[in-house]
Amino acid sequence: MKAAHIVGERRLEGNVRVSGSKNACLPILAASLLTDEECVINNVPRLSDIDTMLEIFKTIGVDSSYISSHTLKIQARSLSCEVPEQLVKKMRASIYLMGVLLGRLRRVVIHKPGGCVIGERPFDLHIKGFKALGCEISEKDGTWMLDGKNLHGTTVCLSGPHGSTVTGTVNVVMAAIKAPGRTIIESAAIEPEVIDLCRYLISMGAKIDGIGTSTLTIHGGEPLHGCEYTIIGDRMEAGTFVCAGLITGGNIEISGLEFGLLDSFLHSLRKTGANVFQNTDGTIHVQSEKPLVAIDVVTGPHPGFPTDLQAQLCVLLTQSNGNSTIRESIYPNRFMYVAELNKMGANIDHTGECAHIKGSIPLKGAHLWATDLRAGAALYLAGLCAKGDTFIHDIFHIDRGYEALESKLQMLGAKIERITVD
Ligand code: EPU
Repeated sequence: MKAAHIVGERRLEGNVRVSGSKNACLPILAASLLTDEECVINNVPRLSDIDTMLEIFKTIGVDSSYISSHTLKIQARSLSCEVPEQLVKKMRASIYLMGVLLGRLRRVVIHKPGGCVIGERPFDLHIKGFKALGCEISEKDGTWMLDGKNLHGTTVCLSGPHGSTVTGTVNVVMAAIKAPGRTIIESAAIEPEVIDLCRYLISMGAKIDGIGTSTLTIHGGEPLHGCEYTIIGDRMEAGTFVCAGLITGGNIEISGLEFGLLDSFLHSLRKTGANVFQNTDGTIHVQSEKPLVAIDVVTGPHPGFPTDLQAQLCVLLTQSNGNSTIRESIYPNRFMYVAELNKMGANIDHTGECAHIKGSIPLKGAHLWATDLRAGAALYLAGLCAKGDTFIHDIFHIDRGYEALESKLQMLGAKIERITVD
């Protein structure tokens, strides 16, 4: 088993470039199956979740290969409608095969996906969307069978108890693209990754109005063709590096992200007194000059504070002056990392959907276990600022969503390596 070994208290300095966005890339790869022509995707992040998607592609008959380190070509000349259970269970994003195969083949047999354990993650809104499009769905022993021979345009609202759904919006868009007639999706998610998917579909020949708003109008049934597309940079990776710069008292520049994708995160950090800003070319500058102060934050759907940066912010707030509160409004149970941070001496009290964080607490190295992707990233940050040696276990979670995290941190001056443990 691999673990990360970090020797803390090193100031980070220099430039780092973020990889392509995982959560934009996964739906874009899936959408490439809507045409039988070749698609070329640039800025593909090299992650285990992407490998899982490509493995699924192979088993259903899709050709894909890297033509350079971060450029993939994909061609789905013919496809099977049955997706293998073992691979689907490895990753929540395999749910995208549902919308895509429904649109292209009108028939899908797929098991319910697995993924990071961060609380309840239902699929009711996906099912609601597909049914509204005229799809008949039955379920047996955790496997869905979808029959879309009568697929047609519709109007459907995708709002749930915690707002809209990112994967649900993407899934319904991809099926609706192939459904004759006009589909209106109300309360669509407006995350940048959803926008990127819509832009990709447009470059394949799709007609979608309202991109970037919560009402999407899809003119279904247009012929789609192959295209070449470049994926946006990963805002969660960028946000993680921002926290790494601040927590180590560092001075770093982060490139590879479009301007404006992290506004609410950067705005919250500026409230702590942090010196962070983004140039119009997208470069983020992080300079740690003075101690930060406590803040209260509530996560929310875009353009709110991203839930995927909540754990990383929490670590930063353990080092700020005063007591902070984080309320998690999307995944109320997304606090499994708190117990790990408390092992390092942090004083975080987690009740319900809130974490109360006592600031200015020096952390000390410990053996820690990553429980999910973002929790794992937060533990890396804690290790970077802790006194002594930190060992992070179960780092396969990190490989799902951060490309070469250790070497990027090394280039910024961190003392970090991967080791083999029993
Ligand atoms: N929800 C429903 N019904 C549904 C679907 C979702 O009630 O049918 C609820 C969920 O319980 C949750 C909220 O709606 O409270 C948001 O769920 P959503 O569907 O938007 O999230 P997701 O598809 O599970 C994606 C990202 C997550 C990210 C969230 C929120 C992918 C593959 N995953 O997840 O990313 O946290 O949107 O922005 O794009 C990560 O990258 O670490 C990650 C977990």
